[in-house]
Amino acid sequence: YPPELIRNFSIIAHIDHGKSTLADRLLELTGTIKKGHGQPQYLDKLQVERERGITVKAQTATMFYKHSIQEASCSDDQGPANFLLNLIDTPGHVDFSYEVSRSLAACQGALLVVDAAQGVQAQTVANFYLAFESNLTIIPVINKIDQPTADPDGVKAQLKSMFDLDPSDALLTSAKTGEGLEQVLPAVIERIPAPPGKSDSPLRVLLLDSYYDEYKGVICHVAVVDGALRKGDKISSAATGQAYEALDVGIMHPELKSTGMLLTGQVGYVVSGMRSTKEARVGDTLFHSRSTVEPLPGFKPAKHMVFSGLYPADGSDFEALNHAIERLTCNDASVSITKESSTALGLGFRCGFLGLLHMDVFHQRLEQEYGAHVISTVPTVPYIFEYSDGSKLQVENPAALPSNPKQRVTACWEPTVMATIIIPSQYVGSVITLCAERRGQQLEYSFIDSQRAFMKYRLPLREIVVDFYNELKSLTSGYASFDYEDADYQESDLVKLDILLNGQPVDAMATIVHKLKAYRVGRELVDKLKKVIDRQMFEISLQAAIGSKVIARETISAMRKNVLAKCYGGDVTRKRKLLEKQKEGKKRMKRVGSVDIPQEAFHELLKVS
Ligand code: GTP
Repeated sequence: YPPELIRNFSIIAHIDHGKSTLADRLLELTGTIKKGHGQPQYLDKLQVERERGITVKAQTATMFYKHSIQEASCSDDQGPANFLLNLIDTPGHVDFSYEVSRSLAACQGALLVVDAAQGVQAQTVANFYLAFESNLTIIPVINKIDQPTADPDGVKAQLKSMFDLDPSDALLTSAKTGEGLEQVLPAVIERIPAPPGKSDSPLRVLLLDSYYDEYKGVICHVAVVDGALRKGDKISSAATGQAYEALDVGIMHPELKSTGMLLTGQVGYVVSGMRSTKEARVGDTLFHSRSTVEPLPGFKPAKHMVFSGLYPADGSDFEALNHAIERLTCNDASVSITKESSTALGLGFRCGFLGLLHMDVFHQRLEQEYGAHVISTVPTVPYIFEYSDGSKLQVENPAALPSNPKQRVTACWEPTVMATIIIPSQYVGSVITLCAERRGQQLEYSFIDSQRAFMKYRLPLREIVVDFYNELKSLTSGYASFDYEDADYQESDLVKLDILLNGQPVDAMATIVHKLKAYRVGRELVDKLKKVIDRQMFEISLQAAIGSKVIARETISAMRKNVLAKCYGGDVTRKRKLLEKQKEGKKRMKRVGSVDIPQEAFHELLKVS
């Protein structure tokens, strides 16, 4: 395939505006998948993606499409040429914007999908700028025009005023009814430039992504920027210097299809005998072992915004959890994992995630795909503390701080984000109040049109990780849209909040909070714990403390829980069943000191911010 007949493009949009459905239609239209293949959103392969209706990992598919264009010298005016189109689906949720920028690196253009009824939303703005900064050709697609509330002209006006996109360039589609879809691929071919690489230059391959396959081992998704990659080639990694052999090379059509070769501008996969995806560094350049080339500009490494401890729900399962995590991280290299131990919970792991949804998805996959039962500790953001000896430390686990930090800590900083919020004008007041409560600083406030306001805020990351988005949605009857990118650290007045059970601090329950919020959070934490910890044979005292100062206190009085109390008659099987059930319930408990804490308690702590 000469590069002139190749187009690499991506679909970007705000969540739920219809990217995956549009991708499905294009795959059907080109015969890549059969119509009505029974599984909507073909490219959303993970079970969590299907369950939650979100795209987590970007997937790629190659399509073939016949089209004639006047200037296509390669078609020799002998009818339509067969184009090779690589479609790269991207995730819509803010946690995964890192995946979006990865996908865009292999593209020359993007379809910017906007819901005809909802108009431009926060992630439309964020994704537009990602594409714009990567110099991609942007084709606006106004989708869902079948909806009764669709207002394509209004959306065109927004695209013009916000992004200076020409209204006459917009395509109007319904991925549901199929209306307008026939214009999409011709627009891709005619408007998006062919990949710019050189066929006669030494090979340079950009590593886009990787995953682990039971049978084939590590499979790398790659874009061939210059030269050609053939099966059997000896290739080296610019990042590690490691040499490999290209054992299999091919395209995603959409399943892996071996082609033995990938030419300049093509996107596909290579299997090279890597043992773990850790060897496949995203953004790395692969080249022919005997040549010398300038490595391609790589990607910024993924930034971990949220950290939490993961412990086996049953202490003896550490090895099983270790194995499950190793397998899962083979497929999700964006999680950082280090071993840690907690006095309360034993051996476990400290994991860094891109955001809370990413964390949830990781937990869900551990349970669903590997049957692991885990207890996760309260998520925390990475703070920086400066100690009196002048050393600075990034703290990812509150337990690592001394309980009375004031003795040694001279300054602390917390990470912040730059947030974009788009809301109907009538909610402006309540959103400003919410952001002020969350220690936000307003940077911009304007109107997109007569009905909707656009705001930019700098907010501490700590204040948005837990439930900011939910609260924003409920304050605005679901109409707010929100996106953020990480910004700098800011100096802050932080304290460590300890939770004590019967006078003993529980390291896994410690949190770091802003001093002004410590009292409220401490109160809420002990109240929540009181509700979820069952009465036991002895009295339990619950305390929240900053250093040696107790700021909230509750007591759970003693009581023996008799599971047989409900069993009047002497039915032995029923009695046995109940006892079994009680045993089952205990499995999900953690004994901390002498107190049994249900897994639920850790979940409840998560919800306090
Ligand atoms: P993420 O992958 O989570 O970012 O979402 P997405 O943008 O890929 O959206 P998806 O394709 O999953 O579509 C979201 C919802 O909109 C689904 O329920 C689709 O059936 C529906 N939908 C998609 N296109 C259309 C359309 O043209 N018209 C109507 N009425 N509904 C549509």
